[in-house]
Amino acid sequence: MFIDSDHPLLVHGSSDMGFNPYEIRRDFPILEREVNGRRLVYLDNAATTQKPRQVIEAIREYYEKYNANVHRGFHTLSQEASEAYEKAHETIAKFINAYSWEEIVFTFNSTEALNLIAYAWGFKNLREGDEIILTVMEHHSNMLPWRNIARLKNAKIKYVDITDDGLLRYDQLEEMVSEKTRIIAVTMMSNVLGTVNDIKRIAKIAHSVDAIIVVDGAQGVPHLPVNVRDLDIDFLAFSGHKMLGPTGIGVLWGKRDRLDEMMPFKVGGDTIKDVTLDDVVWQDLPWRFEAGTPNIAGGIGLAVAAEYLMRLGMDNVRQHEIELTSYTLKRIREELSSDVEYYGPWDARIKGGVIAFNIRDLHHHTVGKALDMLGIAVRTGKHCAHPLHYRLGINGTVRASYYIYNTREEVDALVEALKTIIGLKETLKTTEEPDVCPGG
Ligand code: ALA
Repeated sequence: MFIDSDHPLLVHGSSDMGFNPYEIRRDFPILEREVNGRRLVYLDNAATTQKPRQVIEAIREYYEKYNANVHRGFHTLSQEASEAYEKAHETIAKFINAYSWEEIVFTFNSTEALNLIAYAWGFKNLREGDEIILTVMEHHSNMLPWRNIARLKNAKIKYVDITDDGLLRYDQLEEMVSEKTRIIAVTMMSNVLGTVNDIKRIAKIAHSVDAIIVVDGAQGVPHLPVNVRDLDIDFLAFSGHKMLGPTGIGVLWGKRDRLDEMMPFKVGGDTIKDVTLDDVVWQDLPWRFEAGTPNIAGGIGLAVAAEYLMRLGMDNVRQHEIELTSYTLKRIREELSSDVEYYGPWDARIKGGVIAFNIRDLHHHTVGKALDMLGIAVRTGKHCAHPLHYRLGINGTVRASYYIYNTREEVDALVEALKTIIGLKETLKTTEEPDVCPGG
């Protein structure tokens, strides 16, 4: 499916000559690695991205020079750590154009942020008979927390389907909303199809019936320019490790009014101003949602990752991925279509740098293992989106996913490797094992 030139998701732009993936690669020591005797081609960025020296150094510097707990001490190290940790919230606020750094809550990852919204906002605001609208393309992290809270509150879940091109059925969503709808929870970008959803349009639909919109930005925020004010959404969740940052740090952003409506989800250290034996005064935002000693090094590392991306320019990041994706889809369509089944929109301008596919008559794990033998890292399985795979009538896919340091030569390496694997299909079939990773 091809789209009009005024489609809201098009990023017009910008082939800034400052964006050079070959130079960017020099900041990533791991990309020098060899795997099975070949230079690593890392195409598993939707699972996690590699880290630049700047992020690794910032974390090392914290531990070597000013490691201390935050918000607890008057000593110099604690003040330096507190300042850096708070400044990290400011950097992330700038990255997504939040109204204030106080709306930025650091969590463990997107999954924890989505659970936090479901349990804290959902628990307080959902009533029996209310409806929560999800989509069939959601990652389990934006599906299971809602199903749990719906069960606890006797609310109902409804799912919006996709078209044959892998796009969201906006027509169905519009029919589905009603005064019973309290929440629409939707991904910004599918981790399998790559489909980029029109979040602004969905926000308008949600607000037309006084529902809130919760956006899973785990795949979208690392790859698209995101402006929460312009999107007019209520909540956004994303993870540090998918945008050059360390693991164990994620972000919940919420409009202040929404955050103020919620009780803390986890309570204990740092969430309070005062506690007596029978009362408690909660801390200001964002600390009332960051219970216990936080991931200080992670927060500092994530801020450096966000600064790195802002220096590159998110429009350039997006444009680079459109180019790689478009080139890949062209080669698949022209050279591999008799052997490769591809899932998702064919127009790279409305999808992220995620290519999910199967080689006909070969198990996805067999293809993944063969690619690894050729030094190419991809993910195989159902990618924590089982319902989407069942909707597509398949048991898994091979997924290649791109980021700022990937090059056209790496796309060529993938396509040539797939040709080799297709050539060896009959031999590989004889060595296939049963589905070894059904949960993946
Ligand atoms: N959610 C991550 C993925 O899609 C792990 O691979």
